Amino acid sequence: MCAIKTSSTMEALKKAAEIHGTPLYVYFEETIRERARRVKEVFHGINLLPTFAVKANNNPNLLAILKEEGFGMDVVTKGELFAARLAGVDPFLIVWNGNGKSKEEMLHFLKEGVRTINVDSFEEMEMWESLSPEDVNFFVRVNPEVDARTHPHISTGLKKHKFGIPLNMLDSFMKRFKGMNIKGLHVHIGSQITKVDPFLEAYEKVVEASRRYGFEEINIGGGWGIDYQGEELNVQEYREKVVPLLDGFKRVFVEIGRYIIAPAGFLVLKVILVKRGENKVFVVVDGGMNTLIRPALYSAHHRIFVYGKEGSDFKADVVGPLCESGDVIAYDRNLPAVEPGDFLFVENAGAYGYTMANNYNSTSKPAEVLVKKDGELVLIRRRENIMDIFKDVVM
Ligand code: LLP
Repeated sequence: MCAIKTSSTMEALKKAAEIHGTPLYVYFEETIRERARRVKEVFHGINLLPTFAVKANNNPNLLAILKEEGFGMDVVTKGELFAARLAGVDPFLIVWNGNGKSKEEMLHFLKEGVRTINVDSFEEMEMWESLSPEDVNFFVRVNPEVDARTHPHISTGLKKHKFGIPLNMLDSFMKRFKGMNIKGLHVHIGSQITKVDPFLEAYEKVVEASRRYGFEEINIGGGWGIDYQGEELNVQEYREKVVPLLDGFKRVFVEIGRYIIAPAGFLVLKVILVKRGENKVFVVVDGGMNTLIRPALYSAHHRIFVYGKEGSDFKADVVGPLCESGDVIAYDRNLPAVEPGDFLFVENAGAYGYTMANNYNSTSKPAEVLVKKDGELVLIRRRENIMDIFKDVVM
């Protein structure tokens, strides 16, 4: 079921941690390529421009692998654009997303050669209109009023969410901006969606609207869910039900992050001590909500494996070293008899792991290592040091 069970994965993770220390993010090139290919296969027969959502992981070394696999990039900020350009991605293959693009950013993206822009609102399009840029392809992000049935913080396709314009306002949008080069519609209803039905429901509406306006291109966003704890999106079912809807479009953009990169990455943590409380055991590790915030922020579940140990000797909370009770990596996990110095491997940490890491409690962000196809370990981002944290202080 999961790659971590193979001893070569375990050994590579341990070796990387021994060389580069912990907390450490480790990625496997082979998994990245395999997952990227799986995405493309799902759309076989369609003229697809697959893009990778840089928000999920911004390491340019990993983006370069995806570029080799034929991916463009979905970026939201100047920083993400910088990462994509460092990876050598052609600006023509970059899509710019976001609900708060400033004029200054607009000029920057144009200067950098980005020409595909997903517009989020009337107000944003007015800003573009005032700049009257040349050769820009605009996609209008629509909000299809579909419940993605995922965590509320990562659900985006309902009227109460800040993204896109309601489908019933599309007519007035198209009339108001008939002079702008609008190429098609864009829709993204949320992330970590494990059922095909919400996609189907959203795309039926958006494809129907696209045909009404004669659009030949469409951007269907991302959001494919993975197996953190239960099931992964059934891509076979997705191919059978969703892909036929896209027949006839001259070009289809997707923006996938998590599905590709989450399973390719692990977070390696080291046990500092095992604290036996009155009615609870705490396994205290050297990275917490500063390193991987998903459990604290979304109550996310990540499976954990212990190097060289199996079984279930006790139940414990795996907690970080920070001064906050919410600083938790996992609640009530059955674990083998871990001891100080043991390595813990946190699965599915490749997406929204490093990119959401922070310096809380003045801690440094971890290092990142890539395990190449031939097994070679390459440091792809050094660990921050204390000066990195304080480099912008003025005194
Ligand atoms: N396109 C748009 C417009 C998006 O907003 C997102 C994600 C994606 C594509 C990529 O979605 P993916 O394929 O990765 O599901 N920090 C959260 C996830 C936030 C997702 C934000 N938007 C987490 O850790 O679960």
